[in-house]
Amino acid sequence: MIAIGSDHAAAELRCTVRQYLEDQEIPFIDCGTDESPSDYPIIARKVCQMIQNGEADQGILLCGTGIGMSIAANKHRGIRAAACSEPYSAKFTRLHNDANVLCMGARVIGAGLAQQILDAFLFTEFEGGRHQRRVDLITEIEQTEAQK
Ligand code: RB5
Repeated sequence: MIAIGSDHAAAELRCTVRQYLEDQEIPFIDCGTDESPSDYPIIARKVCQMIQNGEADQGILLCGTGIGMSIAANKHRGIRAAACSEPYSAKFTRLHNDANVLCMGARVIGAGLAQQILDAFLFTEFEGGRHQRRVDLITEIEQTEAQK
């Protein structure tokens, strides 16, 4: 299950993502929003909490740049969000970082590129091995910071 969300700046891109997921027959939950204007951290929180609760396996967050959403998402325990503007990064953030949230910017990329990025992110598995050790080190940082 994929949880998706956008702010007002990426409402149209969210429609593109919805259509893509429907075409691929990938189940998803749309966390909105259709409000304009809207505050991207609120949407990021909804999507990340769905992953934390086990209601979703991965998330897709969209805003103007993808950056605000990625900053907000990465404040959540267990979330590894990557803002991607091309497929190479989307592929390798799955292979090496086990990213569980993809962020994209509607003011940065078009619908065609977004679909290629989605292909790379959603159909690439984490490589594990030496990368698992590095992901574990990220989790350690998260746990140490939470104790401050
Ligand atoms: C909204 O204008 C814009 O700031 C937001 O969509 C996003 O780009 C923030 O990072």
